[in-house]
Amino acid sequence: MAKIVVGVDGSDGSKRALRWAVEEARLRALPVQAVHAWHVPYADLSPFVPVVDPEIFHEAGRQALDDVVASVDGSGLEHPIERVVAYGPAVTVLTDAAEGADLLVVGARGLGGFTGLLLGSVSQHVAKHRGCPVVIVPPER
Ligand SMILES: Nc1ncnc2c1ncn2[C@@H]1O[C@H](COP(=O)(O)OP(=O)(O)OP(=O)(O)O)[C@@H](O)[C@H]1O
Ligand SMILES: [Mg+2]
Repeated sequence: MAKIVVGVDGSDGSKRALRWAVEEARLRALPVQAVHAWHVPYADLSPFVPVVDPEIFHEAGRQALDDVVASVDGSGLEHPIERVVAYGPAVTVLTDAAEGADLLVVGARGLGGFTGLLLGSVSQHVAKHRGCPVVIVPPER
């Protein structure tokens, strides 16, 4: 399907990515799909993690996605920005969503903690995606 897919984790980096994607979508008259991948932290690693309702993480992800989409000016687009919240590792969710898309856009960094890195692990991995062109939006200089 013709579209621009953007990864949104709630970070400023992903906000910049969405802004860039919206500008590009205006030029190309394409729909924008903002995708958030969520998972239950550590649930697969330890039997001692208390049982929590996964819906909490889904809801938090949906809220983060809504906030980022609301912060970006989507005027001039032919369609409103589509929001997708999906369970799974971010790289898999994003590359699956971008299969057959025109463009996959991510920020250089996200919510992760290692400040020295140029690129986060998600952007490093999606850079190797061969299904469509990938854009990694750098931080503000
Ligand atoms: N859970 C997610 N859902 C959707 N997009 C994501 C998600 N996580 C990251 N991204 C996308 O990838 C970009 C880079 O984030 P990444 O996770 O690679 O960096 P980081 O959080 O700084 O590092 P790391 O996660 O490796 O500690 C984000 O700006 C966003 O566009
Ligand atoms: Mg991250």
